[in-house]
Amino acid sequence: MSGAQAKEVDLASEAFEREFERFARFIRNDSSAVTLGLSDAEAELRALNEIRTRHLGKKSAIVGAKKLIGRVAAEDRASFGQLVQKTEAAMAQSIEGAEASLNAIIKSARQAREAIDVTIPGRRPRQGHLHPITLMCQRIEDIFVSLGYAVEDDREIETDFYNFDALNIPEGHPARDPQDTFYTTEGFALRSQTSTVQIHAMQRRGAPVRMIAPGRVFRRDTPDPTHNPMFYQVEGLCVDRGITMAHLKGTLAEFAHRLFGPETKTRFRPSYFPFTEPSAEVDYSCFNCGGAGCRICKWSGWIELGGSGMVHPNVLRRANVDPEEFTGFAFGLGIDRTCARIYQLDDIRLLFENDVRFLEQFR
Ligand code: FA5
Repeated sequence: MSGAQAKEVDLASEAFEREFERFARFIRNDSSAVTLGLSDAEAELRALNEIRTRHLGKKSAIVGAKKLIGRVAAEDRASFGQLVQKTEAAMAQSIEGAEASLNAIIKSARQAREAIDVTIPGRRPRQGHLHPITLMCQRIEDIFVSLGYAVEDDREIETDFYNFDALNIPEGHPARDPQDTFYTTEGFALRSQTSTVQIHAMQRRGAPVRMIAPGRVFRRDTPDPTHNPMFYQVEGLCVDRGITMAHLKGTLAEFAHRLFGPETKTRFRPSYFPFTEPSAEVDYSCFNCGGAGCRICKWSGWIELGGSGMVHPNVLRRANVDPEEFTGFAFGLGIDRTCARIYQLDDIRLLFENDVRFLEQFR
């Protein structure tokens, strides 16, 4: 055998061994190989394929040596051929061994990545529920709907006309002060009372009309246990021929019976609102002590429900209703404070702090 040609085969084998050395760990299944991450294992597989091309591909030294087999002296041909084949087979076997091991690592890494652990406890979706103010509104609406009232939903941003002028509170009137609100630069204001809906409802429906309007109102009040700058009121309006104060008293007495219990009493105290004449504050006897006096009614036996009165003729006129033909009553009740009393909350601010531990109790 030609010594020079055999030497070339040895050199090709040595060059392969040098490059392949780093892949030997995959054949031995070293722990460093087994713990390889997915992307590292994929990179190693690509590098291994490059080695295969370089050492076993068309332009490799071993394929070059194969072409020489026919040209070596006849007596050396068999042994040279065997050397070439053995060397090539050894290289191929090493590469295949490392490749099989890398493929196994890649497969199990992919499986681990895609695996779902069915033993992990599921995440239970948190079920929502209605806010206590919404619950109160629904109870109030149910009562008035059963008395033949429509439910109106109206805008929270108003013009001065609807919030004040149309309600007989002209500019400069002292009644604007306690109802100071938040203004926009374009001349609008957040409504400070649901009484604005009286005007909208009469303009829309004309007379006769019977409606309630629960909703949000805003005032520049400093927050304390009974005040919030944003709170809820429910407005009531009944306009028809021959409506008197007796209808107002009867309606609110019936409402109090249905909301707080049939033994509840109501009382009317003279008051003043520019948009009603006469005007009255309405109180109901404490649902907790029945009027004897307790912590809830601050030992007075009575709890304030809101303001009320007979709709002022000026208000009817502003809403295009003839006061010679129609009369009406109106009332405006604070929902937050009523809600706080019913659920025995010391502070109405709790209702809007959005503390789930508090709200969960109304489930
Ligand atoms: C009014 O707002 C009148 N519009 C009520 C009315 C309507 C009278 C129709 C006549 C005819 P007053 O400002 O008193 O009235 O408010 C009514 C209720 O809103 C109060 O009884 C109280 O329960 C509630 N309230 C007032 N200010 C606040 C506040 N800052 N936070 C929580 N509740 C409030």
